Amino acid sequence: MKNGLEDVVAAETQLSDVNGEAGQLVIRGVSLDRLVEYARYEDVALLLLDGLLEERLDRDSLCLRLGQMRKEVFSHIGAIDDDLLHLPPVDIMRALIARLADGDDLDTALRLLAAPAVFLPAILRLKRGETPIAPTPSLSQSADILTMLSAAVPGAVQVAALDTYLVTISDHGLNASTFASRVIASTKAGLTSSVVAALSALKGPLHGGAPGPVLDMLDAVGTKDNAARWLGRALDRGERLMGFGHRIYRVRDPRADALKGALTQMIAAGQVDRDRIGLAEAVEQSALAILKERKPGRPLDVNVEFYTALLLDALTFPRDAFTGVFAIGRTIGWIAHAREQSLEGRLIRPRSVYVGPLPKAA
Ligand code: COA
Repeated sequence: MKNGLEDVVAAETQLSDVNGEAGQLVIRGVSLDRLVEYARYEDVALLLLDGLLEERLDRDSLCLRLGQMRKEVFSHIGAIDDDLLHLPPVDIMRALIARLADGDDLDTALRLLAAPAVFLPAILRLKRGETPIAPTPSLSQSADILTMLSAAVPGAVQVAALDTYLVTISDHGLNASTFASRVIASTKAGLTSSVVAALSALKGPLHGGAPGPVLDMLDAVGTKDNAARWLGRALDRGERLMGFGHRIYRVRDPRADALKGALTQMIAAGQVDRDRIGLAEAVEQSALAILKERKPGRPLDVNVEFYTALLLDALTFPRDAFTGVFAIGRTIGWIAHAREQSLEGRLIRPRSVYVGPLPKAA
């Protein structure tokens, strides 16, 4: 038995490949560094869904129908009562998604792509005591998310930055939430059930719940001069440095560079606080140096969460919503894997080793 199924191959997939030694992520034959150069959210949605649903779509009809679905799912916002509004954003999203009809068709898939994109901005506005803003179907998914969040028309650089984020985290091999999605799909329960299960797995702090703490760490460090001292003391206390290390990558996480590129564009457009970025860079350099010194046998480099935190903060998402934004991007990966599993896989039914007491002899 392999604890945590580490190194166990549990599926064959054509969707994505994570090469931890080379630091390369390939999504349906396209390397991430190439993909972020041209792809918007809608492009990666088409790429991942290609051939997995009975009905096929071109880019224009995908944009049109996704926009219409955003409008349709907005009616579910009325289900957020006071009890629900007290929960963390990702738990409210899960409750709302669970209300959607199940199915395996294109409409169900599009509804599931639209739902988190509409629900999260509305939830954040309601939590701030503001009225939710209805979607604008003619906008792209990223432009509409930012419009629904802030009620202002976003700039092209901000929209491009959110697109880069959503593309970068769209799929990543057989991580815990994607595996959960495939397990549910293998029972033929339907795409909504797969997405609800995957979102439940994602919210755990060992999976999608880490970028908020990166900002907490930057706040605690406070100034560039304090970086080396603060990080050293954190390691002395046996703590982990947030935004560093990865189970699979033994080199720099390629997603970190994709996100840093988007952040650089925002800096050039004057949309990011330069002091904040300067502090983050000082913390990154100090952390890499100190981790090399303290953990010489373990290559530890920056991971996706470090620049996710900075990018989503610059896009004005509050830190308790970061996992929800992650879910907006990853839902396409969950749906694609669920469909692949449903089309090609068998019922997932591993065995366990019984280590409990044996029945007493009569
Ligand atoms: N800071 C300090 N030390 C770290 C570290 C970090 N971020 N990540 C790993 N290590 C150290 C461990 O303490 C351990 O050292 P030891 O052998 O002296 O005990 C060694 O590296 C291996 O740790 P292990 O838990 O086996 O690594 P893993 O590959 O299972 O862990 C993570 C992967 C992501 C859970 C881990 O790197 C981590 O906790 N990172 C911080 C949280 C984070 O950024 N999460 C987002 C991931 S995308």
